[in-house]
Amino acid sequence: MKILFVGDVVGSPGREMISEYLPKLKSKYRPELTIVNGENAAAGRGITEKIYRQFLNDGANVVTLGNHSWDNKDVFEFIDDAKQLVRPGNFPEGTPGKGITFVKVEGIEAAIINLQGRTFLPAIDCPFKKAEELVAKAKSRTNVIFVDFHAEATSEKQAMGWFLDGKVTAVVGTHTHVQTADRRILPNGTAYLTDVGMTGPYDGILGMERGAVIKRFQTSLPIRFEVPKSGRTQLSACLVDLDRKSGKAKKIETILINDDHLFISE
Ligand SMILES: [Fe+2]
Ligand SMILES: [Fe+2]
Repeated sequence: MKILFVGDVVGSPGREMISEYLPKLKSKYRPELTIVNGENAAAGRGITEKIYRQFLNDGANVVTLGNHSWDNKDVFEFIDDAKQLVRPGNFPEGTPGKGITFVKVEGIEAAIINLQGRTFLPAIDCPFKKAEELVAKAKSRTNVIFVDFHAEATSEKQAMGWFLDGKVTAVVGTHTHVQTADRRILPNGTAYLTDVGMTGPYDGILGMERGAVIKRFQTSLPIRFEVPKSGRTQLSACLVDLDRKSGKAKKIETILINDDHLFISE
């Protein structure tokens, strides 16, 4: 069984990459399960119902979120009814939405968990404690468990990978928007990648118009970032190959598509 996971889709340039490349990647690799992180999909901030539905139409089975979950208020209108949408599970009790979902794809049940780190991000509930709780819930139904760990610090992400090694199929990081080159299978069978990277503007900074970002670094003024309206784009993803019975990962490959790479690791 294969799982395709595409990293943080930024604005309309990112959504266009999804519409163009997701069907191509799916026909090339034939993943049973396709997951897209959509926390930046609506103009760089949050997600709308229309965009969520578009991702499903383009071939995603599940959409994950992150610290930008609430940035577009449209989300409050549909998140509780969106079965294939997860937000970080360690948001405080009572927060709309859920941190785990189950999907049945080609006769196989899979659990998708979203968690958020606390280092250099808001101090929400403990992601490790919540991981234990959600993984136990997932295990009662399936061994195929994918974790999108939305976090800033590479150390916190590695800690989550090792913490869940042997308990889940994969721990893949999102949020930094830069793909890392540390894909591996941990000793007890969990696929690990610190960050899958970003899908969207290639010549911006983390997907945002670079002039404003540079100016903010120069001046420390609260300059608003926008997604560039035109320009080159990229797609960042990974592909996990696993044993469907045990849920253990056999291989993880990274995919990076832009004008400087058409990179698929082997
Ligand atoms: Fe992001
Ligand atoms: Fe984020």
